[in-house]
Amino acid sequence: MKIYVTDLKGKEHALEALEGWRVMEIIREHGLPIKAECGGACACATCHVYVDEAWVNKLSAKREDEEAMLDEAFDLQDNSRLSCQIIMDEELDGFKVKLVSSG
Ligand code: FES
Repeated sequence: MKIYVTDLKGKEHALEALEGWRVMEIIREHGLPIKAECGGACACATCHVYVDEAWVNKLSAKREDEEAMLDEAFDLQDNSRLSCQIIMDEELDGFKVKLVSSG
């Protein structure tokens, strides 16, 4: 499985993804810049990403705690998600996101 991550300079990276991993962890393991300060506990919003429009509706809905954290994120958009709350599975093979500058 692969995910495609566009970095802050607009370059797209194809990353090998394993089932059960958080998208945030996949991005971090490949050395792309993502702060993810709370380590995936849904408590920092520094793993904020923009989900490619084609994928937005394929993700499971945000939980309330994700909504609440996103409200505090910079540059919030309709396609904003916390990448630590997206768990990789086969359905998400080819998933695309863009990194967001966390300030
Ligand atoms: S890593 Fe902190 S909210 Fe995702």
